[in-house]
Parts: sequence; C-alpha cells; structure tokens
Amino acid sequence: MSREIPVRLTNEADVRSLATSALLKLFDSLYEGAVVVDRVGRITWINDKYKALIGWNGAESIEGRPVEEVIPNSRLRAVAESGQAEMLDIFTLGSRQVVVSRIPLRDDNGTLIGALGVILYDRLQALRPIVSKFQTMQAELVSARRELTENRQAKYRFSQFIGVSKAAREIKEQARRAAARDMTVLLLGETGTGKELLAHAIHAASKRADSALVRVNAAAIPENLLEAELFGVEPGAYTGAGNRIRPGKFQLADGGTLFLDEVGDMPLGLQAKLLRVLQEGEIEPLGGNRMYSVDVRVVAATSRDLKAMVDAGEFRADLYYRLNVLPLRLPPLRERGDDLPILCESLLESIAERAGETVKTVSPAGLQRLAEYPWPGNVRELQNVLQQALTCCDGHALGPEHFGMLPAAVVSASTLTPLANNPAGSVRLLREAAAAAEHAEIFKALAATAGVKLHAAKLLGISRTQLYEKLTAYGMLSAFPDAGDSVRDSERTVKLVDRLA
Ligand SMILES: Nc1ncnc2c1ncn2[C@@H]1O[C@H](COP(=O)(O)OP(=O)(O)OP(=O)(O)O)[C@@H](O)[C@H]1O
Ligand SMILES: [Mg+2]
Repeated sequence: MSREIPVRLTNEADVRSLATSALLKLFDSLYEGAVVVDRVGRITWINDKYKALIGWNGAESIEGRPVEEVIPNSRLRAVAESGQAEMLDIFTLGSRQVVVSRIPLRDDNGTLIGALGVILYDRLQALRPIVSKFQTMQAELVSARRELTENRQAKYRFSQFIGVSKAAREIKEQARRAAARDMTVLLLGETGTGKELLAHAIHAASKRADSALVRVNAAAIPENLLEAELFGVEPGAYTGAGNRIRPGKFQLADGGTLFLDEVGDMPLGLQAKLLRVLQEGEIEPLGGNRMYSVDVRVVAATSRDLKAMVDAGEFRADLYYRLNVLPLRLPPLRERGDDLPILCESLLESIAERAGETVKTVSPAGLQRLAEYPWPGNVRELQNVLQQALTCCDGHALGPEHFGMLPAAVVSASTLTPLANNPAGSVRLLREAAAAAEHAEIFKALAATAGVKLHAAKLLGISRTQLYEKLTAYGMLSAFPDAGDSVRDSERTVKLVDRLA
C-alpha cells in the first residue's frame, strides 16, 4: 500500500516555506561567518565567528562602521548597490583565501536594503580542489608577472660586447653615442654579429634604462598576428577579442625602448603603420578608432640588405629613410681577426661558468686554424664551434685537432692550381659541380647556425621555403630535422656534433 503524501507538500506556498526553512538550516550549518551591511555599506550585524576570523578584539563596536574599514576590499557595498548576487567567489581575508557568497537583501516591496555576506570555506570540502587550483594559478601568475618584468630589462651591457680591433672599438663607440641620443637606431650586420647584444646595451646605457625594453621579432610572428602584437587590440575588435583592452608592444614599451628585430621581414602593409608611429608618436590599436600617443624609442635591427629591398620594392623607401637616421653597421667576424683570441677567451669563460667547469683556452695553432675560417655565422657560430670542440677535448687547450668540424680552409684565387697541372679526369659536369657546391654551402650554413633553418636561409640569401625545397632535393632533411624554433642552441649543438662526428 502506498504511503499517503502529506497534504502540506501539495501546496506551492507550503513547499516554498518548507524549502526556505530547510535551506536556511543547511545554510546556517555551512557558513563560517556572516555579516550584513545596509544600503550604504555600513555594517549592521556581524556574527562572532566572523569577528574571530578577522581578529576583532571585541573592545570596540563594529556596527555602524563602513564595511571596508573592517573587511578590506569587501564587495558587499557593491552588491548592496547593484542588487546583483555573487554566489561563489574566492576572497582574500588577511593571509587566507576563503570562499564567499554575497546576497542582496530586499524588503517586502522589493526595495534594496542591504547585503548579506557569508564565508563558506572550511565546511565545504567539495570546494577544496577549486580553491587549491586557484591558489596554484595565483602563485603562477605572480611568478609569470615577475618573469615578465625581468624579461623587460636589458640582458647585456656594453662591457659584454667583446673586441679590441679597430672595427670593434669604433662600432662600440658609435653605439655609446647613439645610446646618449634619444633617436631611432638601425642595427645592420650579418647574422650573429651582436645586433641584439648592442640593442640591449644601448637601452641599458640610455636615459630610458629604468623603463621597459620590449622586443618584437617581425620574422617570428605570423603576418596576421603582428599588427595586434605591435599596436594592441581594442575591446570587441573581432569575435573572441573579449571586452578588455589588449595592449600592444608599443604600449608596453611606453617610456622605454622597443627593439624591433628583423625589421626587414616586416610585411609591407604594416610598414606604413610603423612609419606613422615613428613620425607622429601615435598608435591606433586594432578595431578601434582611437589614437594613443606613446613615448617609445625604437631600436631596429636586420641582417637583410634594406637598401636592396627598397630598390626591389620590398621595403618602403620612406620607412627606410626614417629608420636609417642613425645606422650602425656591425662588422663581420672575418673582418676583425684581431678579436679572435679575446673572443675565444671570453666565450670559453662564459661556457665554463654556465657548465660549472674549469676554463679552457685555445692553443696558438688552434687560433691559427680558427683564423683561416670565414665565419659566416659570426660570433654565434664561434660560440657553437667552441662548445662542440670542448666536448671532444680532454686537455686544457683546444688545438686544430678539435676543430675538425670546420670545413677545409677556403682556397684563395692566387693558390688555385694552374689548369695545365690539373688532370682532365677531375673535371666534373658543371651541373654536378654546382650541386656539390650548393650542398656544401647549405651544410656550412646549417652548421653555422646550429641547424636553425630561418638563420641558415638568411645566410644563404634564400627564403626558408626555398631552403626546405633544397634540403628535400638533396635528401638532407632527415639530417637536419625540424627541432622547432624554441629549442635552445646548446641542444642543437649536441645534435650537430653527433652529425658532424
Ligand atoms: N662582440 C661580441 N662579444 C661577445 N659576444 C658576442 C659579440 N657579438 C655577438 N656575441 C654573442 O653572439 C651571439 C649572437 O649575437 P646576437 O644574437 O646579438 O646576434 P644578431 O646580430 O642579433 O644575430 P641574428 O641576425 O642572427 O639575429 C650572442 O650569444 C651574443 O652574446
Ligand atoms: Mg638577432
């Protein structure tokens, strides 16, 4: 026989009143603390548990005080004003984080009369995972913010630009003078000559040193994202843009320096916008019609021949002239042979310091071997070669035997064997000889850039796509697999040593 349903659960008013009293009981058993504020945010009632949590000594009266005076950063006043409940929120109360609910209170006519705040934390075991996740995220955010600030500071000083040759002393002197003048600087030079190093040093020696140094690499960011990256996004600029302003690198660098790396790879469309910033000091974020003025010093760098690009219609002439006010040409390593000994000394010291090992040197014969090589990858390549050489050196000094990875010395025109002495049998079909030379050059470029294809393509004066085509054609792709641009040079070097061994 079925049990009879109590009459009072068939009537909606009864159900409501029963549910209300059941919920209130549950609520009462759940909360850790409760506080009520009036319409203007003054505390009208607070329970003892809450007082104990905030360490209120009981001597003075809390009632009537503005809520923020007793509970810093409380949002109860906002809830009492807006009438919008905030059902679950994580709130910092002193040194602990608690889960709270804020509920607006209304009189019988529906008029807002205040708000009730309750702390739900300790009794709600189910919320613990969310709270601890929140705390982990909060800690990660703090450390990411710290890292970001550190990343926005200069990593190098002029003292780290090593060189005693005339060419090195001259460029350092020019860069020092450029640092003192608050003007746009253009750093030109082959890959690995120290453009990034000098950009940092210029910022560090300038009057903007205490402000941010922000870097943008125009070659590493896809064209469709670069504009937002540089100039920022206004709320609702596109679907998914959200309703918050996303600052661009120009805004982040406000008051400081923007290091515009690989400026030669800047898409033509954006070049006009960049020119306007340089001329007017104003930026226009994506999707907005507002202009913001910024105070940014631009230090641009490229290893490409900008003038030739202008002539070929690949780079705007007006932007080129605007950037080119203070050009600094970094000399390639082969033009400053005098610097090899001191560079080796300094680089070997840094490598040993990083690895926590004793410092090694290069023997005179070893230096002689290094001096014969043209260093297409410049100081970066020298760094890589020294690092590789160290892996097979047990003694104190690196000699020619440790530099076997360097291709044989380039034969100069004056030492070419006269044709009469050259047996005809060694003559190859021109297309075979050309292919062999191309293969060797590609290999050299990849060795010089520790396998980074973008840099190697730059060295060879071809696009990355063309390099891929050639690697495929010569069956070299498996020897130089994609490691992703984020792989550090040292990791590549180890792989490269294996390949060269
Ligand atoms: N004169 C120098 N003294 C000491 N270290 C140097 C010098 N020049 C370059 N280096 C080092 O060589 C490496 C490459 O330098 P950097 O990244 O500044 O070159 P880059 O000109 O920006 O090259 P790319 O065009 O490929 O970006 C860095 O590790 C840098 O510290
Ligand atoms: Mg660079």
